[in-house]
Amino acid sequence: MADDGDRPARIIHAALPHDSARKHVSGEAIYTDDLPEPPGLLHAWILTSPRAHARIVSIDTSQVDGPGVFVMTAADIPGRNDVGPIHGGEPVLAHGIVEYVGQPVLAVAAASIRAAREAAERAVVVYENLPPMLSIEEAWQKESYVSPPHTMARGDVNAGLARAPHRLSGELRIGGQDHFYLEGQVAMALPQEDGDMLVLSSTQHPTEVQKMVAQVLGRPMNAVTVEVRRMGGGFGGKETQPAIFAAIAAVLATKARRPVKLRLDRDDDMMITGKRHDFLARYEAGYDDEGRLLALDMALAARAGHVADLSPAIVDRAMFHADNCYHIEDVRISGFACKTNTQSNTAFRGFGGPQGMLAIENVIDEIARSLGKDPLAVRKLNFYGTDTRNVTPYHQTVEDNIVHDIVAELEQSAEYAKRRVEIEAFNRASPILKKGLALTPVKFGISFTATHYNQAGALVHVYTDGSVHLNHGGTEMGQGLFTKVAQIVADEFQIDYSQVKITATSTGKVPNTSATAASSGTDLNGMAALAAARTIRQRLAEFAAGHWRVPVDAVRFSQGRVSAGAESLSFAELAELAYKARIQLSATGFYRTPKVHYDRATARGRPFYYFAYGAAVAEAIVDTLTGEYRCLRADLLHDAGKSINPAIDMGQIEGGFIQGVGWLTTEELWWDHDGRLRTHAPSTYKIPVARDLPPDFRVRILERAANREETIHRSKAVGEPPLMLANAVWFALKDAVGAAVDHRVVPRLCAPATPEAVLMAIEDAKRRAAQPLPLAASGE
Ligand code: MTE
Ligand code: HPA
Ligand code: MOS
Repeated sequence: MADDGDRPARIIHAALPHDSARKHVSGEAIYTDDLPEPPGLLHAWILTSPRAHARIVSIDTSQVDGPGVFVMTAADIPGRNDVGPIHGGEPVLAHGIVEYVGQPVLAVAAASIRAAREAAERAVVVYENLPPMLSIEEAWQKESYVSPPHTMARGDVNAGLARAPHRLSGELRIGGQDHFYLEGQVAMALPQEDGDMLVLSSTQHPTEVQKMVAQVLGRPMNAVTVEVRRMGGGFGGKETQPAIFAAIAAVLATKARRPVKLRLDRDDDMMITGKRHDFLARYEAGYDDEGRLLALDMALAARAGHVADLSPAIVDRAMFHADNCYHIEDVRISGFACKTNTQSNTAFRGFGGPQGMLAIENVIDEIARSLGKDPLAVRKLNFYGTDTRNVTPYHQTVEDNIVHDIVAELEQSAEYAKRRVEIEAFNRASPILKKGLALTPVKFGISFTATHYNQAGALVHVYTDGSVHLNHGGTEMGQGLFTKVAQIVADEFQIDYSQVKITATSTGKVPNTSATAASSGTDLNGMAALAAARTIRQRLAEFAAGHWRVPVDAVRFSQGRVSAGAESLSFAELAELAYKARIQLSATGFYRTPKVHYDRATARGRPFYYFAYGAAVAEAIVDTLTGEYRCLRADLLHDAGKSINPAIDMGQIEGGFIQGVGWLTTEELWWDHDGRLRTHAPSTYKIPVARDLPPDFRVRILERAANREETIHRSKAVGEPPLMLANAVWFALKDAVGAAVDHRVVPRLCAPATPEAVLMAIEDAKRRAAQPLPLAASGE
């Protein structure tokens, strides 16, 4: 293959703006709900269950029907009433029983949303209550699971615990999180010839929507095409959950023989859809005088909700991150996906990883506090080694460990030691306001843990004027995937970035795709697009070589031109000549991640191609009389490998961090005794805003950090890992709670650390500090 000469940083590794940045701001970016509405369009509305668990005795829709009104119940589904992504058995509309408050029971299409809603509310549904299962504890205790419990182990945990000089045990409650994508769930179904269906869906996973709509309609997959140009945020909430809405729109459209749009309002979206899983972690740890974690027995129980959805894989990923950066000689990690009568929880940035990581960080923090040591010292003591002490609880060797370097660099640049001393002085002099400081590391595994998802396809056309049409299986949700893949293709042809047309994702162009998830969008689709572009470039190079009678490797692509010696053509001129010579200017590309394998039955393998690293230092101040607080300063250092686009990666790092801060501080989901979610609008659910940013916010991308694996241009996935940098804020708050009692007891804090939770933690710490037992770790 022809050499590409110098690879100027003006395309790849360049800080180009997101291709839609201006359009996002001006309002010109087109989302599913902005698409031109076809004539005769009907709007749908969903009637949901008011009961957490009940038998449906009867549904009477006689008062719903009317001219131009179309009703759908489970009985109207022509194919299977099932959109379960892994296991099946997950209904579109309730059939026989309802299993959570908010479960779709029937849907209506009419001329307007309001007309549909008014008609739907005339339905009479009679329920007979069944006992609901509303908490993780209860489900766990009664062994109510959506999938069997699972264990990962290395060494002998019982012997390790028995041998350890010190032991502590405890429990950590970790809250969930609503995705709060700015664009809610929406789908528009447009009937085509022969009962085929075109579905425009706000989805991270067009292939799954296609498959589920086909299954629900009782049609083959080739009768359904799904398209999405962009989402107004997905964050994992559109990995599986769009299927129900697309399926309802498609069934109603089939019934009405008219296009149907279903767009949820915020309250309905929050009541119906699943969220990040809340977890209950229980642990027993054995450690030595220095704070070395010798043995760990950790159980992670998650609220899966009423059906499995992705919960088994999410609990697995929590378990895969219950080591974070730490070597544990004797370890057992067990996971429980608890079935509850609540929304079906789903993927959310980190996919369980953040919960597992917070749990182990809390163990390390408690060990340090029980020994009266700075948690950072104990963290460093326990880091994986680079050549030894580097095998995870799932028996993957950590080959790319850079946590020592990142932490050392950040500790320096953030002046951790100096500020620790200053904060101690501040706290001695300040009886009411207390400060806290924390440094936490992140190691996040990159790849889908189900190995077969690690594949992608792309389709590239070069037109005769040299302009390029780019398509791949990935979806754009604001993360900048389309920009990065266009950079990769422009770089390969050495043409201007603006010559590459970014097009909507469509199941008709690239088939059998994976969700854009697991942060691997660019790793997978970037490689597939590169492969397609390479194929075309090779054909062009061979053609040019023949044309000029030079060897193929003399042909160079550089800065919009193709040359060999004194011969030179613009890329467009060459495309035109090649076309006339009947050279194919279109190609597909395919990629599968090498090296990954995992045997879930034995919990051994290499589920991750590589790890992405990062670290954060946060400083917080707490009012110990009210529990109110602020994060005063945050320093982040994050590993994006050799970044394909530092501007976009910076946005991902900042955005991920602040989303994580929301999860761990202000975003609280609250269900009442009847299992009704009471926090289903921004009035009661508090996401971070600009004011919640630390006033002193220093974010850096790690330099000289090329991925040691052969990823796309040696970059690293960046979508999810920075969310876990927010752990530092939570531990800074916990440190400040400890300071309220002069660190005489180990504080107990839950997540989210709302001001209320912080105040209760302070009160609890004060109560325990007043008792004679010094330095008791939680749960002892
Ligand atoms: N960034 C924005 N702006 N919007 C999003 O919805 N989703 C996150 C992350 N960053 C998201 C985002 C999640 S959950 C994932 S898995 C990745 O982006 C997916 O995209 P990628 O694989 O291309 O990084
Ligand atoms: N991460 C994110 N999404 C997923 C995964 C994963 O490991 N597996 C299936 N969907
Ligand atoms: Mo992201 S939670 O893998 O969609």
